[in-house]
Amino acid sequence: MPQEKHQYMSNVWRDDIFSECLKNKVVFCTGGAGTICSAQVRAMVHLGANACIVGRNVEKTENMAKDIATARRGAKVIGIGAVDVRLPEVLQQAADRCAQELGSIDFVIAGAAGNFLASIDQVSPNAMKSVIDIDILGSYNTVKATLPYLRESASKHKTDGKTENRNGTGGRIVFVSATLHYAGTPLQSHVSVAKAGVDAMAMSIAIEQGPRGITSNVIAPGPIADTEGIDRLSKKENRERSYKAVPSGRFGTVKEIADATIYLFSDYRSRVR
Ligand code: HXC
Repeated sequence: MPQEKHQYMSNVWRDDIFSECLKNKVVFCTGGAGTICSAQVRAMVHLGANACIVGRNVEKTENMAKDIATARRGAKVIGIGAVDVRLPEVLQQAADRCAQELGSIDFVIAGAAGNFLASIDQVSPNAMKSVIDIDILGSYNTVKATLPYLRESASKHKTDGKTENRNGTGGRIVFVSATLHYAGTPLQSHVSVAKAGVDAMAMSIAIEQGPRGITSNVIAPGPIADTEGIDRLSKKENRERSYKAVPSGRFGTVKEIADATIYLFSDYRSRVR
């Protein structure tokens, strides 16, 4: 659990403009029990949103939902476990339940991902398929299940990108990708292929659905401190060497990813001109 989970109040996110955008809005998030996605959702809930997180592990997902709900008094956070993003019907049921219980789906975070360290000769056909299916098909299934709700939300929150929209924002998707495939990463061919596909899907959706008011963006975290992913991929004893491989000399933080998410889901851009 990230130690800084309750620190969002102490900085820029106290600003009312973000709360205006997110108040009473609903975020649907896959992979929501993971360290990065839970931080993204927690920041949104803190700023006024309600949330539905889905994951494969029932106990972990339900417990995380309860924990995220503590970010704001009165917050509604649903945790739906036993949701494998590779199963469209199961995902559709979860999206429908989210919209029914919380009233809408305004934002989507497609964060479910598979990962392990293995060289190409150690990756079996089924292992390659599993990661591609979780990342690419899972993201596709997530968009398919939520797009009608996102379109409805987008139509209520139309903006010219310049004028302040007092009604906030909606109809926005963020895909959680990675930086592994930008330059090539050993032992990560399967994930690199999958995340490249996620990036491509996000770009196509942005161009295709943009005229209907939908935004589609990618956040590509590099190594992020205190996450399950980095704990699995980078041994603690090699951390100093790992830090040196990052230009800033440190790992990123979950808060930085949450901050980027809030920015993309807000209309902050229209207010700084
Ligand atoms: C090689 C492996 C393996 C490993 C599983 N497989 N683990 N192969 N090395 N360590 C193989 C299995 O042997 C099997 O192939 C196939 O993968 C499917 O495994 P199953 O267990 O049957 O299926 P499933 O549970 O559906 O998928 C396994 C999984 C998934 C893909 C490993 O459980 C998973 O990824 N869990 C971790 C989720 C996670 O932490 N996500 C966050 C990612 S963070 P065979 O041929 O034997 O049938 C991230 C950030 C990266 O991505 C950025 C860091 C810098």
